[in-house]
Amino acid sequence: MSNSDLSFVNRRDWPSDKEEAAQLLKARWDYRWISASDARWADRPTPTEVIDAVASGWLPKSGRMLDLGCGTAEIAAWFAERGYEATGVDIAQGALDQAAKRHADLSRPIEFIAADLCTQTLPGRTFDILIDRGCLHQIPENLVADYVRNIASLAAPDARMMLFMKAFREGPVSDLLEEMELRTDWVRRIFAGHFALERALPTFLNPDNPKFPLPGMAFWLSRTP
Ligand SMILES: C[S@@+](CC[C@H](N)C(=O)[O-])C[C@H]1O[C@@H](n2cnc3c(N)ncnc32)[C@H](O)[C@@H]1O
Repeated sequence: MSNSDLSFVNRRDWPSDKEEAAQLLKARWDYRWISASDARWADRPTPTEVIDAVASGWLPKSGRMLDLGCGTAEIAAWFAERGYEATGVDIAQGALDQAAKRHADLSRPIEFIAADLCTQTLPGRTFDILIDRGCLHQIPENLVADYVRNIASLAAPDARMMLFMKAFREGPVSDLLEEMELRTDWVRRIFAGHFALERALPTFLNPDNPKFPLPGMAFWLSRTP
């Protein structure tokens, strides 16, 4: 398999025109978030890797955190509960509405922003911690560089980022180690010039559901000057 084969990242039925791809991405997520029965990706606990990174001090103990493609914002809520200034961004207003309702009782409220991170930034805003669970891995291939550039513009000079992406694909996988290496190479390559990859490990995206495990990978990234 060649290095440019990104079929492990996303399906290939996206328009080659970037504007059309962005429109389709938004339409798909808007639809998914209003058809609640299909929200398999929602309502997952904060990854243990994030909890451990805070405990070890790899992630700062306070500051501004950004939950990228936050969905129902469980991760943003986890940080807000611990006194961080937490912001959740999502392309789908339907997701943000559900998240706001779900976390209405937090003593430190989450800030919610509707934005497409492939085509928009948040002018004047920077964050110390960025977490992406399940957003990058479904961005159309021709928008990945825009997404990375936009989220890098939101990272403070010494920001740290944790990325969680799927490590499965449709159809059988013959060599798990090769699958992991492919993803690690890809992440290192797309973040080059913005973030340095410090660590990459296998994980499960849904540890709360061991009956149907979704293999994933966790990445630890540091903003480069
Ligand atoms: C698989 S869900 C993960 C949700 C959440 N991060 C979690 O772990 O529960 C992906 C989320 O990314 C959002 N999303 C997809 N593309 C986006 C984009 N270009 N900009 C912002 N959010 C996006 C979707 O609406 C969806 O809520």
